[in-house]
Amino acid sequence: MIREPAQGSSSTQRAQERTGSPAGTPATFGQLLRAHRTRRGLSLTRFAALVHFDPGHISKVETGKRSPSVGFAKACDRALHAGDAFTAIASALEAATRRQQGWVRPAQLPAAKRHFVGRHEDLRRLDGLLQGRERRLAVPVAVVNGPPGVGKTALAVQWAHRAVQDGHFPDGQLFVSLQGPEPDTAAAPFDVLGDLLRAVGTPPERIPAQRDQRAATFRSYLHGREMLLVLDNAADARQIRPLLPGSPGCAVVVTSRSRLPGLMPLVDAVSLPLPELCQPEAAQLIGAVIGQVRADADPGAVAVLAERCGRLPLALVLAAERIVSRQHRSAEALAAELKPRQARLNLAEGDVVLRDAFETSYKALDEQSARVFRGLGLLPGHLIDVASTASVTGVPPEEASLSLCNLAAAHLVQRHDERHYRMHDLLRAYAADLAGRPNGDPGRATANGRAADPMPALNSLAA
Ligand SMILES: Nc1ncnc2c1ncn2[C@@H]1O[C@H](COP(=O)(O)OP(=O)(O)OP(=O)(O)O)[C@@H](O)[C@H]1O
Ligand SMILES: [Mg+2]
Repeated sequence: MIREPAQGSSSTQRAQERTGSPAGTPATFGQLLRAHRTRRGLSLTRFAALVHFDPGHISKVETGKRSPSVGFAKACDRALHAGDAFTAIASALEAATRRQQGWVRPAQLPAAKRHFVGRHEDLRRLDGLLQGRERRLAVPVAVVNGPPGVGKTALAVQWAHRAVQDGHFPDGQLFVSLQGPEPDTAAAPFDVLGDLLRAVGTPPERIPAQRDQRAATFRSYLHGREMLLVLDNAADARQIRPLLPGSPGCAVVVTSRSRLPGLMPLVDAVSLPLPELCQPEAAQLIGAVIGQVRADADPGAVAVLAERCGRLPLALVLAAERIVSRQHRSAEALAAELKPRQARLNLAEGDVVLRDAFETSYKALDEQSARVFRGLGLLPGHLIDVASTASVTGVPPEEASLSLCNLAAAHLVQRHDERHYRMHDLLRAYAADLAGRPNGDPGRATANGRAADPMPALNSLAA
């Protein structure tokens, strides 16, 4: 039986007025739906085709054997041109059920950025993920992936706030920091599920002791709800899988430095690789932080500064903050200081340091990929291929090729064409910096027991 909200509840009364129910005759959602449908001469089958729900489901809702979800109610409102009348009743019903179950409506999104710029196409792609969500069986999962500091979290949070403002995910939003990319220090799904269950109001004694049971309890809680789950900074697919909801009303946005190989074949996931900002947007971001008047005073210097920061949002923000805090008089002065590539790695503000952001990705690499990464810092030119990688690192070509694939999956290099990769300028500077350290030299490193030194000239470059 549908648990109706308390009789005389104002939202139900308003909804009944809007659906044309006679005043003073309290009706259930199902009775109102049937009355409205038949008044419009719609058979069950015809109506089912309009709302994209099964006729059996509609019949059960009409006879009170099944509770209407908010998604179903929205479809009814659309098909019957009833404003938001049915949605209001279904929301009131759900709220009453939630109160009975001690359900908490979480709103965990961190604040959006004041100066968010660009990313229009990515925001549109994420919007597309929402459309028709309630009509599908699978839970949509968007994986925003890209190099350190490129703006994955900022994009996910910006989009989530926009979606909530537009009325999506009325049952709540969960935001979880998964502490990737190093698998050793990443959050364990067991602990994360405990936090999630507590966040939705599960009493401690009802939180199971086994990981899989926790996952099942979490899915049960989400069933029939329209919730957003933002899983920030995921290490790998194994960490994500137990956290995914099973109910199609929910949606998931994952951010990760990895492309999360292994996730796509198992869930309805869409990959959104995020590149650096384009030149005008990078300049706009600097201008937004330092103030447009100051930026307009010397647009040429701002453009040079944006390029020296590799148009990477984290570097751009750190550089702009330096100007704001008056450590540098102007964009021109800072751009001049950042001319040597290594100086760019020291961009920092408080406890946020550009080099540290790169280091966490580097530390997550296996030994051989780390060796190859360091070696790439010594290669001249922008294009990287297997032969030059093998030659500079002393790693056999097949293994060098595998390591390049690993580095691409971690967004430390990007595929350029079938034969070549590219490396972001700042990452190249970081790799060269590592190679220049006493035990970081790729030729001398003994990653897999071989102490090859194939390129003494390049090794001396690193010294
Ligand atoms: N489009 C944008 N507009 C304005 N600021 C942005 C934008 N994208 C990112 N930023 C800012 O750049 C910095 C780095 O962004 P963010 O933390 O989202 O990167 P990330 O890709 O999630 O990094 P990580 O890989 O370390 O998790 C933050 O200060 C963020 O607010
Ligand atoms: Mg992030």
